[in-house]
Parts: sequence; C-alpha cells; structure tokens
Amino acid sequence: MDKKVTVIGSGNVGATAAQRLCEKELCDVVLIDIIEGVPQGKALDLAEAAPIEKHDSHLVGANDYAASADSDIVIITAGIPRKPGMSRDDLIGTNAGIVKNVTQQVIKYSPNAILIIVSNPLDAMCHVALEASGFPKNRVIGMAGVLDSARFRAFIAMELNVSVESTHAFVLGGHGDTMVPLPRYSTVAGIPITELMSKERIDALVKRTANGGAEIVSLLKTGSAYYAPASAAVEMAESILKDKKKILPCAAYLQGEYGMQDLFIGVPVKLGAKGIEQVIEIRLTDEEMAALKKSAAAVEELKGVLKRLG
Ligand code: APR
Repeated sequence: MDKKVTVIGSGNVGATAAQRLCEKELCDVVLIDIIEGVPQGKALDLAEAAPIEKHDSHLVGANDYAASADSDIVIITAGIPRKPGMSRDDLIGTNAGIVKNVTQQVIKYSPNAILIIVSNPLDAMCHVALEASGFPKNRVIGMAGVLDSARFRAFIAMELNVSVESTHAFVLGGHGDTMVPLPRYSTVAGIPITELMSKERIDALVKRTANGGAEIVSLLKTGSAYYAPASAAVEMAESILKDKKKILPCAAYLQGEYGMQDLFIGVPVKLGAKGIEQVIEIRLTDEEMAALKKSAAAVEELKGVLKRLG
C-alpha cells in the first residue's frame, strides 16, 4: 500500500483499529506496544486472516519505533483503560506519562505524521501530545466526537426503529460527563430529531450518550469500550488518507474559535490530507454555548492537573 499507519498500543482499541484499517485496505499497518510479543503476535494473526478477508495490507508488529518510520498517520491508544467506578479523568496521572513518552519516540521516525489521539482523558491527552510533538495544531487531533456522535446515532436509530444510516448526530465539547449532544443538529434523513421525539425521550438519549462509555465499562468490568472507539478512529484516518474532507466532530486545538483560547475541545472540523483543514463554527443557542463553556471549563481543569504533574 502507498499509505502507512502506525497504531501505538496493541490492546483492545489498538488491535481492533489495526484490523479495521487493514480489512478496509486503507494502508499498511504497524502495531507497536511496550509488551514484547503482543504486537508481533497480533500483527501476524491479522496477516494470516488476510487471504480470507481478501486484503493486501501489510502488517508488522514491533516494540521498536524504527518500524513505524515515515507513517502518514499515528494513532495513539497506549495507556490504561478505566474500570468500573473510574472516570476518564482518573486515568490522567498514568496516561499523561505514557502519551508523552510514546509521542516523543514516534515523532523521531515520523516527523510529518498526523497524530490521532485516543488515550483518555482524551482532551487532556491531546494537550500532552501537542506539547510533546511540537507539531502544528492541524496535525494533532483527538478522537471523541465521532464516537460520542455514533453512540447518539445508535440510540436514535433504536428509539425510532430506523436504519442507522439515515441518522446523523453532532456531539461537541469535551469527552466526558460534560459533553454537549446537539439535538437541533441531529437528524433522521435530514429531519431534526426535535420534530420526531418528545423532549423527555431526547433528554433520555442525550443522558445515555453522555454516559455511553461508563455503561460499557460497567458491563465489561475489566476494561472499556473498544469496537466503536476503533471504528471512530479509523473513520478519521480514512478521511485523512483519502483526503475526503469529511466534516466530523473531533477534538481540535482552538485559538479563538467558539471564543476558546489554547484549548482542545470537540468541534466540527474538516478532515483531509493536511489533517484539520478547517474548524467549522456553527451557530449555537445561548443554552448550547453555556454547555460548551461548562465543558471547556472541565478541560481547563484537567490542563491545570497536567501542569501540576509537570
Ligand atoms: N508504550 C506502548 N504501549 C503501551 C505503553 C507504552 N508506554 N503503555 C501501555 N501500553 C499498551 C499496553 O501494553 C496495552 O497493550 O497500551 C495497550 C492498551 O490496551 P488496553 O489495556 O487493552 O486498553 P484499551 O481498551 O485499548 O484502551 C486504551 O484508549 O479508549 C482509551 O480509555 C482508553 O486510555 C485507554 C486507551
């Protein structure tokens, strides 16, 4: 393949993302992990499935970052997932050190890559990666809004008994309890869901969306969601690799947009070959803006924690 994507962290999210990338035949894939044997074993296993799945993506597993050289995209999933009773924010101490370390290593070999961050707490980890890489803001992107919007879409489709393909949703803000699902901009075949459901039902779906990660954690008990997070990261990668210029909600570093300064938060962006090619500023009601500001304050708080961690 003429494109190369490295996935750092060969656990649940990383290995599933690798599988989706190769099965869609988007690129060659390098899996990296700190545990010896795991990325090599998973890459080989996926390569052995290739004849049946009918793709010619090459897969390599490694502990050494040299294998990742000249990647177009690096997806960072390294870190610990949460367990029942934990919030994403509880992961910050451990994952900040891991994300800093892996970013510093990977950029030595892929100085022109676009970084897609998946490790949690997402918005804070984007700050860590931006600083550790020194990359321009268009090349550090957080995966959260695509996942949260997919969850909202799935719940809308279940509620109305319609195809998920007819649904569209926008969830903005930080990837946490303060995320901001936007029912006005969430539609079924172009019809806002505010025309199709009662306020009570919409509120219930919004609440379930904001709690979507925790709902899965409480069921799995030993880790967090990975199928949908991997799908979301791969949709972003595909838009970049194919220069599709999809408009997707992603964590982007804002410098003035939406009245936010020097802050990663989920907003609609155009994703193409250059990474974030545009931040789309949509008009928000006072209530929606207040919710976004509240979410921004939660991310600011985590920025403060990062500062104290050093
Ligand atoms: N370098 C490389 N890999 C690392 C490092 C490191 N310094 N530290 C940890 N890892 C690897 C682990 O060895 C493990 O294989 O990261 C992988 C994480 O995989 P899982 O434990 O299965 O976690 P996963 O469910 O994939 O979630 C990863 O994504 O969605 C977020 O909140 C989630 O922060 C978590 C991350």
